[in-house]
Amino acid sequence: MAEFRLPLNSRVNRNGKVHKAPADAADVRRFQIYRFDPDAGANPRLDSFEVDMAACGPMVLDALIKIKNEIDSSLTFRRSCREGICGSCAMNIDGTNTLACTKACADVKGDVKIYPLPHMPVVKDLVPDLTQFYAQYASVKPWLQSRTPAPPDRERLQTPEEQEKIDRPSACILCACCSTSCPSYWWNGDRYLGPAALLAAYRWIIDSRDEATGERLDALEDPFKLYRCHTIMNCTEACPKDLNPAKAIAEIKIMMAERQH
Ligand code: SF4
Ligand code: SF4
Ligand code: FES
Repeated sequence: MAEFRLPLNSRVNRNGKVHKAPADAADVRRFQIYRFDPDAGANPRLDSFEVDMAACGPMVLDALIKIKNEIDSSLTFRRSCREGICGSCAMNIDGTNTLACTKACADVKGDVKIYPLPHMPVVKDLVPDLTQFYAQYASVKPWLQSRTPAPPDRERLQTPEEQEKIDRPSACILCACCSTSCPSYWWNGDRYLGPAALLAAYRWIIDSRDEATGERLDALEDPFKLYRCHTIMNCTEACPKDLNPAKAIAEIKIMMAERQH
């Protein structure tokens, strides 16, 4: 996976609190973690935590939970499933947007540097404000729209081939790793929908059961919502579920072009 670097934030105080490992720790690893509390009125800082990996699980999320349980209970981050399903624990680890629960500490060389997802307002520490991200997802109407009544005796059926087309796009866990690694989204996130919302739009545009394809494409006919994608591909590189939002966006653009002829 290609590495993606956070723009340096000169306001981050790099000399935050240092938490040393116990003297008898067998296998010490240092975690440098972004801390920010908007209520404290201070600039963000990087705190340093030494963790005994001999008494810690292998994933970055294991280390964060250990730090919160044993060293600093005020450390704030989201997590739920701890197996790459819920998308809650997305953060920037070692310069890459990814899931803390599926990122092994052993895969990081040197200190493990952990920041929130980039270019989003921070609620606290590693928790970004995803309000706009979710609103953009909702704006593509991510549900089946049909006009013909459903068959009275069974579901609306698809062929295996039709289902296969939506199978991968449906696997999106809305972690936001892709959108927050997209330079177009950084600079125009208020008007450009970003790769996650556009992948969701695509998933419903190509669904054989959906009957609102024209309206869905009409809604994306806008200089910003769709066309701010410049095929930089950061999104696809970042996706921890190996999805391909860049390809989905390119296919939407082709559908737009084809219906104009
Ligand atoms: S391909 Fe498009 S959506 Fe993906 S990172 Fe590039 S500009 Fe953003
Ligand atoms: S496409 Fe991938 S990176 Fe983007 S929100 Fe979905 S699962 Fe996360
Ligand atoms: S805790 Fe659910 S994806 Fe990491």
